[in-house]
Amino acid sequence: MPEVEKKKVAIITGAAIGIGFEIARQLAEQGAAVVLNDIDEDAAKRAAEKIENAGGRVTVVAGDSSDLIVIDQMVQTAIETYGQIDYAIANAGITTFGDFLSYPLEQFQQLVNVNLQGTFFLAQKAAQQLIKQGDGGRILLMSSVTGHQYHPDLAAYGMSKAAIRMLAKSLGVELAPHGITVNAISPGATATERTLSDPSYNEIWSKLNPTGRPGTVQDVAHAALFLLSPHAGQITGQTLVVDGGWTAVSPPPE
Ligand SMILES: NC(=O)c1ccc[n+]([C@@H]2O[C@H](COP(=O)([O-])OP(=O)(O)OC[C@H]3O[C@@H](n4cnc5c(N)ncnc54)[C@H](O)[C@@H]3O)[C@@H](O)[C@H]2O)c1
Repeated sequence: MPEVEKKKVAIITGAAIGIGFEIARQLAEQGAAVVLNDIDEDAAKRAAEKIENAGGRVTVVAGDSSDLIVIDQMVQTAIETYGQIDYAIANAGITTFGDFLSYPLEQFQQLVNVNLQGTFFLAQKAAQQLIKQGDGGRILLMSSVTGHQYHPDLAAYGMSKAAIRMLAKSLGVELAPHGITVNAISPGATATERTLSDPSYNEIWSKLNPTGRPGTVQDVAHAALFLLSPHAGQITGQTLVVDGGWTAVSPPPE
């Protein structure tokens, strides 16, 4: 398993639970310092406590990841507390299911704000700082298999996640001269606190995924740590699908 370099500094959004937390936890376990963001301050503090209790270094910046002031705070906190940033992980994203024909504007705008504005400006602010530091870096975005393939009731979400793949491609090219790689991960159905609130989640996705099980947060975090590691220095502008083979066949849930 490739390791990220020790003494690196990561900023990550939406990381109190789920995939983001597991990426933060594994980064801290491997010696990186983590600036952990979540809109839920109490949950973020609980997450930080878990990481600290395991010997990790972590600082919380609570707030909405689509808010440019919060993004600036994350970058500033990383510099003031740990001296630099090396990895920026735009993980926060909201999934609102809804029939296309009656999908409300308010929900659409909220989804676009978090999934696109938050991702775009975290990448922008992180890139500005990485270029200033002059030593390269890594930017990782969180797409979804629903940005590749159709899934019922996810027209707005799928559109936002497809846009994130294109952003990884554009920024991979634009930031390459600065030694910064930009990639995305597209998780398939992944068991998290949120998705497991559906009691039939495991059963449904065990049938639909060719591997016979839903993904785990560890599956996605392992892919993330690979893309952040020195082993992935020649990989940029790509989207790595971690879906147990679902996109190869993409049967929709009933
Ligand atoms: N879980 C899956 O099956 C799955 C599949 C494909 C893609 N994804 C993507 O992976 C990422 C993480 O998914 P997850 O299921 O682990 O997340 P989740 O829905 O469990 O949320 C994780 C955290 O994000 C926080 N959050 C929500 N909005 C925020 C905001 N505006 N600012 C800051 N924090 C915010 C929540 O408070 C929560 O603690 C998302 O971008 C999601 O779209 C997840």
